[in-house]
Amino acid sequence: MASHNGLVSSFLLAIFVIQVTEFGHSSASTNVRCIGAEREALLKFKHGLIDPSSRLSSWTGEECCKWEGVECDKKTGHVLKLDLHNPCTEEIYFDIFVPSDKCRLGGNIVPSLTKLKDLKYLDLSLNNFSTQKIPTFFASLQKLEYLNLSHTGFEGDIPRQLNNLSRLEYLDLSSDFCLGCLTSNDLDWVSKLSSLKFLHMSNVDLYMAVGWFSSINMLSSLQSLGLSGCELQDISSSLQANFTSLRFLDISSNFINSSIPPWIYNLSKLEHIDLSANDHISGPFPTPIIENNQRLAFFDVSENSLQGTVPKNLSSFCKLQVLRLGYNQFNGNIFSIFDGPLGCVQSNWKIFDVSYNNFSGGLPNQFGYFKELEYLDLSDNLISGSIPSNLGELSSLRELYLSNNKVNGTIPESIGRLSNLKELHFEENLLHGTVSELHFENLKSLTKLDIPSMSLY
Ligand SMILES: *[C@@H]1O[C@H](CO)[C@@H](O)[C@H](O)[C@H]1NC(C)=O
Ligand SMILES: *[C@@H]1O[C@H](CO)[C@@H](O)[C@H](O)[C@H]1NC(C)=O
Ligand SMILES: *[C@@H]1O[C@H](CO)[C@@H](O)[C@H](O)[C@H]1NC(C)=O
Ligand SMILES: *[C@@H]1O[C@H](CO)[C@@H](O)[C@H](O)[C@H]1NC(C)=O
Ligand SMILES: *[C@@H]1O[C@H](CO)[C@@H](O)[C@H](O)[C@H]1NC(C)=O
Ligand SMILES: *[C@@H]1O[C@H](CO)[C@@H](O)[C@H](O)[C@H]1NC(C)=O
Ligand SMILES: *[C@@H]1O[C@H](CO)[C@@H](O)[C@H](O)[C@H]1NC(C)=O
Ligand SMILES: *[C@@H]1O[C@H](CO)[C@@H](O)[C@H](O)[C@H]1NC(C)=O
Ligand SMILES: *[C@@H]1O[C@H](CO)[C@@H](O)[C@H](O)[C@H]1NC(C)=O
Repeated sequence: MASHNGLVSSFLLAIFVIQVTEFGHSSASTNVRCIGAEREALLKFKHGLIDPSSRLSSWTGEECCKWEGVECDKKTGHVLKLDLHNPCTEEIYFDIFVPSDKCRLGGNIVPSLTKLKDLKYLDLSLNNFSTQKIPTFFASLQKLEYLNLSHTGFEGDIPRQLNNLSRLEYLDLSSDFCLGCLTSNDLDWVSKLSSLKFLHMSNVDLYMAVGWFSSINMLSSLQSLGLSGCELQDISSSLQANFTSLRFLDISSNFINSSIPPWIYNLSKLEHIDLSANDHISGPFPTPIIENNQRLAFFDVSENSLQGTVPKNLSSFCKLQVLRLGYNQFNGNIFSIFDGPLGCVQSNWKIFDVSYNNFSGGLPNQFGYFKELEYLDLSDNLISGSIPSNLGELSSLRELYLSNNKVNGTIPESIGRLSNLKELHFEENLLHGTVSELHFENLKSLTKLDIPSMSLY
């Protein structure tokens, strides 16, 4: 599940990152002479670092503009870009990669870095500066437009002096590995970063930052906001959103217990909305969000306390790829979303997860049309009727969950055509009949199978 989520989010993130890398290259070249003082500054900086895999072995000689990770201005020779993110990964499980420890830079970041007066781009992500605070002197890198300190293990209060970086467009302080290591007691400093387009602070502890919304509301150019796992509680239901260019919003895994904040309804350019795992977001399905955002590709409100039915015309949102409504208290016939014309939607849906609700309705024939569908989870609902044989036409399907419903009849042999299927769950239903090798002939990828205890031949 997580890997699917990751896929789509990194796709959307890529839109932003592509824009970012442009300014690094446009004016940069490796055929200029390095400025002596900046070379000295870089060498001092290198000297402070621990570099277990000798990633910086090219950092010798005069021509610092040719060193690994360094880019200079074509005309002036000043260092513009320093990209020292850890490029190494290792596979810890099938298809699951994590940054590899062996290439992490560590050690101390020394203030000589501030001699790079023209530095626009600094990426130290995925290295290991644990037990250190974010250096306050970053605040004097006045020309910074891009600062990526994500997954670096920095600890403690984020220096509010960073409010000096008025040209900053991208600030990434997220952490997957060090939850709550960074903290901020208020986001007043963020409100001064008036050029910000991208602000991600996932897993930064913002428990004390009660006025966070008002601060972020000053950032009228914001396009991407990631505040997952920040211990947010108050969602400022009385305010309106200023940042109407927002395309990406992730406030999942917080402690928001009100209804969906009305300011979300003011945002009409959203492509990605993740409000999942807040436990207690309550109220009805937020129909206006879907309707205001024709470009919506990712919608996740799972693990909350939403109630009632879902809009019938959900299937007319053409760009939707991921729909996750699981673990709420929705009810009604989920398949009434197929009542109208299917239009364009069938070519895009990749993930459809409505598990753990009180959805009813008989399994419809239309599923066969969803050629891109990879993940279908209808488990733990009140779904009835028999399994339509055209389910076998879901040629991209990798995981299918129907368990704990009221599905009856027999398992159609067409299941055997789902050649990409890895997991199949049919248990706890009213199915009968036998399952034979015809069902499994072509299921070469199957790793997990749960079917009712029927006779197996
Ligand atoms: C920051 O770095 C991480 C890890 O290298 C990367 O996934 C992320 O996209 C970067 N953030 C931005 C804004 O480029
Ligand atoms: C990160 O650095 C700290 C302190 O320098 C060290 O104790 C820790 O083992 C390192 N962690 C990794 C994953 O390299
Ligand atoms: C903030 O910027 C001003 C110049 O605009 C500079 O004099 C000052 O040193 C900077 N503050 C920090 C903490 O770097
Ligand atoms: C909206 O942002 C502008 C600055 O871009 C600010 O002056 C204004 O107070 C903000 N409005 C609200 C309601 O926060
Ligand atoms: C939400 O949480 C706050 C503080 O934890 C509490 O005072 C309030 O009663 C909760 N509201 C609901 C609707 O549960
Ligand atoms: C936000 O939406 C409300 C109603 O939903 C509307 O009254 C208000 O004018 C909108 N504000 C902006 C800035 O779009
Ligand atoms: C969906 O249905 C609602 C009424 O339930 C209607 O207001 C809205 O325009 C419809 N949206 C689309 C895209 O058909
Ligand atoms: C389903 O409905 C029953 C009866 O109204 C209720 O007790 C149960 O909590 C509901 N389950 C979910 C997941 O909403
Ligand atoms: C399956 O259940 C439906 C009611 O939900 C019933 O009408 C139908 O006859 C049942 N079919 C079989 C094969 O048991």
